[in-house]
Amino acid sequence: MFRKTLAVTAMLGAAVAIGFAPAARADEAPPLKIALFTGYSGPFAIFGQEADAAVAAFLKEHGDVVAGRKVVILKRDTTGPNPDVVHRLAQEAITRDHVDVIIAGDYTPNALAIAGPSAQAHVPVLIANAATTSILERSPSEVRLGFTTSQVAVPYAKWAVAHGYKRIFAIYTDYGPGIEAGAAFKKSLAEAGGTLAGEVKPPLRSPDYSAYVQRAKDSDPQAIFIFAPAGEHPQAFLKAYADSGLKEKGVKILATGDLTDELQFDALGDKTLGMYTVFHYSENHDSALNRQFVKDFYAFAQPHVRPDFGGACTYDVLQAIYKAAAAQGGKLDYDKTIALLKGMKFESPRGPIMIDDHRDIVQNVYIREVRKVDGKLQNVEIDTIPMVDDHGNQVKTN
Ligand code: PHB
Repeated sequence: MFRKTLAVTAMLGAAVAIGFAPAARADEAPPLKIALFTGYSGPFAIFGQEADAAVAAFLKEHGDVVAGRKVVILKRDTTGPNPDVVHRLAQEAITRDHVDVIIAGDYTPNALAIAGPSAQAHVPVLIANAATTSILERSPSEVRLGFTTSQVAVPYAKWAVAHGYKRIFAIYTDYGPGIEAGAAFKKSLAEAGGTLAGEVKPPLRSPDYSAYVQRAKDSDPQAIFIFAPAGEHPQAFLKAYADSGLKEKGVKILATGDLTDELQFDALGDKTLGMYTVFHYSENHDSALNRQFVKDFYAFAQPHVRPDFGGACTYDVLQAIYKAAAAQGGKLDYDKTIALLKGMKFESPRGPIMIDDHRDIVQNVYIREVRKVDGKLQNVEIDTIPMVDDHGNQVKTN
C-alpha cells in the first residue's frame, strides 16, 4: 500500500515538473506511525507526561509532517518495567498497527522486550533512555540516543578521585544499568587510585534503603556512589540518607543524575542542595536550543512536570527520525535508517551528540551540583567531559 502511494506520489512529482498538477499533499501519503513506549499509568504516568510535553514541543518547532507524511504518535503504556506487557504491545504495534518506527522510552527490560519482534519484522527502534550498554549487542534493530551508565560512571570515578574522594562505597540497583554502572565505576576508581569501601545492590522493585545505607555507614567511606533509576528510588534513598546522619558526618553523595531528576526535584526538596551528580542533560544547560526546548516544553506540560533527561532524549529521537525520514523521501527503510543513524551528528538540548558505528551515543558528560537558580532547584553544570562514548572513553568526533 505504501509502495503504491509512493509510486503515485512519484507520478504526481513528474506531473508537477511539467507544470499541470498540484504538489503531493501530506494527506495523500500514508501517515508516518511512531509508537512511543513509556509509562502512562500508575506511579509511572509522570514519565508519559514528560514524553508528551517533549513531543508537543518538538512538533510545535518542526511541524507534524515530514517529507510529505503526516506524523502520528501511537502512545503505548509500558506500565513500568514490565517486559511481558511490552513484548505483547510491541508485537501488536508491528503486526496490527504497522508502525514505521518504535521509541523505547523507558526501562532496559522493556527495550530488550521490543528487540526480538522489531528485529524480526525489520522495524527500527530508537532508545530514548534504557541505559545498559549490552542492550545493543542483543538488539540489531535498536539505536541509542539516551545514555549509558558506564558512559557517566567511568569519568565520574576519575573526577571523584581528582577532587579528593578516594574511599567510596558503591550502591547500585541490581539489574542491567545498575550492574554495569557498578562495574564501570569500580574499575575506573581502581585505575584512578581510589579504593572501594564496600558495595550493595538493592533490588529494582520497591527497595527500603535503610539497611543498605547502614552498610555504607559501617564502612566509613568519604563518599557514596549511587546509581538508582529515576522514579521511586531517589525518594527512598534520600530519606534513608537523611535519617542516617551521614550528611552531618560529611559523607558526600556522588550520584548519577537519575537521583536529582528535574521531574522529582519539587518532591525531593532542599535536602538535595549541594549534591553532586553526573549526567548527560540538565534543564539548566546553557544553550539557545535548550532554552527554546525548555520554553516550548513548559508551554505544553502539565503543572509540576519539568523537562528532564527523558524529555530531552525523546525530543532528540524525533530529531533523528525526522532526519532519517527526510533523507529517504519520507520512508524509514530498516537497513537504510540504521545506516543513516550511524554517524549522525546534531545539536541536542544537552549539547552536541553523535551516534557511533555501534549504534550508540557519544555526548558530553557533565558534573553538576544542585543549587537554587531563581528560587528553583537545578542541576548546575560545574565541569564538562567532552564527547564520551558508551564505555566512558573520550573520543574524537571530527
Ligand atoms: C534503565 O532501565 O535502563 C533506566 C531506567 C531509569 C533510569 C536510568 C536507566 O533513570
